[in-house]
Amino acid sequence: MVYFDYAATSFIKPDCVYRSVYEAMCYNSANPGRGGHFASVQAAEKIYEAREKICKLFQIATPERLAFFPNTTQGLNVGIKGVLNHGDHVVISGMEHNSVARPIEALKHKGLITCTIVKPDKDGNMEPEQFVKAMNHNTKLVVCSHASNVCGNVYDIASIGRLVHQKEAYFMVDAAQSAGVIPICADDVDLLAFPGHKSLYGPQGSGGLYVREGIRLQTITEGGTGSSSELLTQPDEMPDRLESGTQNVPAIVGLGAAADFILDKGIDTISNHDKALCTRFKNGILNMPKITVYGNDTSVNVVALNIDDMDCVEVSERLDKEFGIATRSGLHCAVLAHKALGTLGTGCVRFSFGCFNTTKEVDYALDALYYLINH
Ligand code: ALA
Repeated sequence: MVYFDYAATSFIKPDCVYRSVYEAMCYNSANPGRGGHFASVQAAEKIYEAREKICKLFQIATPERLAFFPNTTQGLNVGIKGVLNHGDHVVISGMEHNSVARPIEALKHKGLITCTIVKPDKDGNMEPEQFVKAMNHNTKLVVCSHASNVCGNVYDIASIGRLVHQKEAYFMVDAAQSAGVIPICADDVDLLAFPGHKSLYGPQGSGGLYVREGIRLQTITEGGTGSSSELLTQPDEMPDRLESGTQNVPAIVGLGAAADFILDKGIDTISNHDKALCTRFKNGILNMPKITVYGNDTSVNVVALNIDDMDCVEVSERLDKEFGIATRSGLHCAVLAHKALGTLGTGCVRFSFGCFNTTKEVDYALDALYYLINH
């Protein structure tokens, strides 16, 4: 198989991730922080080590402000619902994934909040000033993806964050597609949700949310934290406030190993590799008839396209069955982004590259596309 679906999840992981998950299952399967015995303490230490490694990656100075969750969606829900109250206004970008759009829609549906959506241009671009213009005196939160999961466009989160902070609102970033391929500095944001299983090359079931010091989120899940057990109320201390229930130790330890892999290799090296593959792929497509590419050249590791007169699902199915090439087609759980790109009715085919892909694989995919166009 040639795997070009890294934006959905990284199918191939570094050896150190496989090994660390296996070792954690063998040696660290006690319940972390839930007992004073050696095995429990050791499991808790392993989780703390992983927390520190992820913090190093995102330049977070206070590891306790990082809570682990099974995926980005959980982190986004915890952040959004933890910040917003009745009467608040929120601004979201028009390129958001349903994992932002749906929690916001649910709060709107209950009559709790109002929302303004920043309108991208036809190529999915948005300027930082548009976010400020969309704000009003009730705006509590602004949410923007760092990179679009559909077309890969990257947004200037440092500038958006600066402008949002001038207006004294919170800025939340969905780093689902950027964590591991674009350097991220937590100083630019108040809330940062990220996945472990995409470009960080960690296991599925890993991810998290960074919450800036001084922000006390309302909880959407309460329960055992292994701390302050005499209280019937959820503790204030982070990360316990947000991390109720037994943690997924193997996934978190695997994520820590993945962070080591990224730190060793260097995000710039990974990013240059992915961009080179994207550019080679896009250049190859340029010479082909009947192909429309979406988004623009500032993309991360994603190329989204359609072939005239062919259904995107059919393209993905034929790539899979006839060539063993894995892509993702359809709406990519991102109705807003597809609306912006004009592909709500058609969907599109998404190729997304990772650090284990090669130029040979890209050339193979170009040959496959050329064949599909002509047969
Ligand atoms: N959000 C993931 C994607 O874009 C699953 O495919």
